[in-house]
Amino acid sequence: MAFELPELPYSYDALAPYMSRETLEFHHDKHHLAYVNNGNNLLKGTEFEGKSVEEVVVGSFGKNAGLFNNAGQHYNHIHFWKWMKPNGGGAIPGELEKKIVEDFGSVSKLREDFIQAGVTQFGSGWAWLAVKDGKLVVTKTPNGENPLVHGATPILGVDVWEHSYYIDYRNLRPKYLEAFFDNLVNWDYVAELYSKA
Ligand code: FE2
Repeated sequence: MAFELPELPYSYDALAPYMSRETLEFHHDKHHLAYVNNGNNLLKGTEFEGKSVEEVVVGSFGKNAGLFNNAGQHYNHIHFWKWMKPNGGGAIPGELEKKIVEDFGSVSKLREDFIQAGVTQFGSGWAWLAVKDGKLVVTKTPNGENPLVHGATPILGVDVWEHSYYIDYRNLRPKYLEAFFDNLVNWDYVAELYSKA
């Protein structure tokens, strides 16, 4: 099946002041759309035509860099829009919170580790909360890579490409990461992915 650009699950103004309309217009309408279009062009004539985006991501990793980069970014952004919501952050659903405390010691330790992963990802990439071998782990990846290709299931990710924060935060990536964790995360969606991981 061809890749398709999903609609944002909220209005372009809904995440302000933490993420502006201008950022969402560029990020969703131009950057994500480019990954969709490039991915579809690169899919043509390959063994991956008709496969799910997850299958394309895992199957093309290490074999077809152009296709992988675009398919990876398509997958990452499909979820990134849903990992945020207006008035996000705050309370974490019980089961997930229990597991976070079990594996990290506290929610504030997870927050610290997650922000640190985003801050220390050199250049473009992503920071993640993922489930690996039954345990929650924080990781970071370059460019379009994600935990799927490392045998883990991503349940929360934050885009640290400059296109995600430069309009609103300029060079202050740590401020963007703090605002993401404290004011944007849609923990209900994270909990839904956790329950299926
Ligand atoms: Fe992005």
